[in-house]
Amino acid sequence: MSDPAATKRLYIKTYGCQMNVYDSERMADVLAPLGYGVTEDPAAADLVVLNTCHIREKATEKVYSELGQLKLMKQARAGEGAEMTIAVAGCVAQAEGEEIMRRQPAVDLVVGPQSYHQLPELIARAHRARGERLAADFAADEKFDALPTERRPTGVTAFLTVQEGCDKFCTFCVVPYTRGAEWSRPAEAIEAEARALAEKGVREVTLLGQNVNAYAAPDDEKGGGLAALVRRLARIDGLDRIRYTTSHPRDMDEALIAAHGEVEELMPYLHLPVQSGSDKVLKAMNRAHTAESYLRLIDKIRAARPDIAISGDFIVGFPGERDADFEATLQLIREVGYASAFSFKYSRRPGTPAAAMQGQIAEAVKDERLARLQALLEEQQAAFNLSQEGRVLPVLFEKAGRHPGQLIGRSPYLQAVHATAPDRLLGQIVPVRVDSAARNSLAGVLELETA
Ligand code: 5AD
Ligand code: SF4
Repeated sequence: MSDPAATKRLYIKTYGCQMNVYDSERMADVLAPLGYGVTEDPAAADLVVLNTCHIREKATEKVYSELGQLKLMKQARAGEGAEMTIAVAGCVAQAEGEEIMRRQPAVDLVVGPQSYHQLPELIARAHRARGERLAADFAADEKFDALPTERRPTGVTAFLTVQEGCDKFCTFCVVPYTRGAEWSRPAEAIEAEARALAEKGVREVTLLGQNVNAYAAPDDEKGGGLAALVRRLARIDGLDRIRYTTSHPRDMDEALIAAHGEVEELMPYLHLPVQSGSDKVLKAMNRAHTAESYLRLIDKIRAARPDIAISGDFIVGFPGERDADFEATLQLIREVGYASAFSFKYSRRPGTPAAAMQGQIAEAVKDERLARLQALLEEQQAAFNLSQEGRVLPVLFEKAGRHPGQLIGRSPYLQAVHATAPDRLLGQIVPVRVDSAARNSLAGVLELETA
């Protein structure tokens, strides 16, 4: 246990998106005052929290198989006279609720993404083996008000949730059902959290939201959007880098595009999912943009910030996707040139409109399309990395590398960069000359190492 004041061990496993990573950190913050210190060993844990993801079927199934393993560990601990409390948090908790406890009775409590500030109470109740074991409502504001203002950042980069929920209702997606309606935190509270992080040595924050660029400050009469928030946070001393994720093309407004050209702290990297390059499929997905409007948007963003690295999400095998639709996606990818990307086979999610659509695609076809799509995206990522060779990039060193004397950091474009560097450069932004590029990372040497 890293915290000497801790008397009990907490193991948290995080699935899915970065918002869950943030939530897991905050759960540890909520539980710290109760004496819980984080352990990496589930078998030794007094409390296990699985922070789950519901977005694709595979993600959900992983949770149940993990719960099967935990049940055995719980029994082993009981044999030694020790207890293990098992909590399921996150989007599977929200979507399936008590069903989880029926399917796996070793689970003691279920807590949705908006209710984890109630964890201490729920745990106490579970220990008394009675009362409410399920908390899954949608009041995000209550949660943020109830969370401790203190955060215990573990490094020089941190996530900061600014927005939750989604009103877009893409026909394949469970998020509008599991995370509820779009809701933004007050800018003042976000600024306070960012300042506190900067005071603790955080140099880079990633602003998080399911639809982060739909951010609308509830405490700003002018309806300050994400651009205004970014400008506000950019003024904080010590906070040198700002990123945000995930965005919808529909909410990419002029002010935000302008900020990319003007705010030095806003990093030249944008995750802007398009999902498909076929207008027919985009319409069936209810995406509210076409391939052409997405491409023109990318043009505008590149006009504001020519070196920006573009990343995206793609789904292959959406119901009704023909070969020609898939080819249109490959064509769009060729036109954009992605620096990185995430791609998935369509997964049929019960309760979403696409699950009931005609023309579901055979698994073998999805596999074949995904392989072709990923080959193209990997080629583009490798080419993007290669284009950095010989360049000097400012790298924020985040942690020790695998080899002694080596540090790992990130370029402005979110690439991992390895370099031989002294430990005192941890947390510093240092010029590094890139001398070799691999598919997933860069290697370089310190430029002008003087001091
Ligand atoms: N099937 C496959 N991929 C999905 N995503 C969301 N829902 C599904 C689904 N049902 C992908 C989208 C989204 C990313 C977070 O996950 O690409 O942008
Ligand atoms: Fe899901 Fe679409 Fe909302 Fe993204 S924008 S969270 S894909 S519904």
